[in-house]
Amino acid sequence: MNNDPASVREFFGGKADTWDSKYPDDTPAYEAGVGELELRPGQSALDAGCGTGRALAALRTAVGAPGTVIGVDLTPQMLRAAARAGRDRLALLLEADAARLPLRGKSLDAVFAAGLVHHLHDPGAGLREFARVCRPGARLALFHPIGRAALAARRGHTLTDDDVRAEPNLRPLLAAAGWRLTRYDDAPDRYLALAVRLDG
Ligand SMILES: C[S@@+](CC[C@H](N)C(=O)[O-])C[C@H]1O[C@@H](n2cnc3c(N)ncnc32)[C@H](O)[C@@H]1O
Repeated sequence: MNNDPASVREFFGGKADTWDSKYPDDTPAYEAGVGELELRPGQSALDAGCGTGRALAALRTAVGAPGTVIGVDLTPQMLRAAARAGRDRLALLLEADAARLPLRGKSLDAVFAAGLVHHLHDPGAGLREFARVCRPGARLALFHPIGRAALAARRGHTLTDDDVRAEPNLRPLLAAAGWRLTRYDDAPDRYLALAVRLDG
């Protein structure tokens, strides 16, 4: 897939209505992934590329009623499916490009991005945008409920060395964008790259 906005919308627009029923058993993995952000009540979190909002309940539970949860996605059908599932009561849902967020600088404590970074047209620019909207010390979780190899096998793809999610590619990209990679886990049952926002 070409990662320009129109192609992303076309690709994911057709998948929105069946997205949740296709992956019904992922909720515990999302809860554990969100847990790695170590959010506290009252904090602010973004779900970037939120899709149907599968992480939003866990994010809301983590920050509680006084906290802020925002879900951003390029594909309106995904956001409509999130709203139909009642997840618009858990978070503010915005149709926007994750690489051009309609958010103030240094306003967030965490960004959760599941299955997003390899869909970004310019992943480095996306990571810089996440850094812009995050406070120093904020956390970023790049997540997927299965690892890269398992995902590639599911899709009939072969992993290539230029995959942005591979640690040798991701670590310097994060560093150049203002993040320090603190944990990298690419196991069969989950992909998690955890990073902390550096000062500056
Ligand atoms: C693989 S899906 C994951 C959805 C959701 N995070 C989940 O785990 O169920 C990727 C999502 O990212 C969205 N997306 C892709 N590129 C985007 C961008 N530049 N800005 C915002 N959303 C984007 C797609 O519309 C799609 O909903």
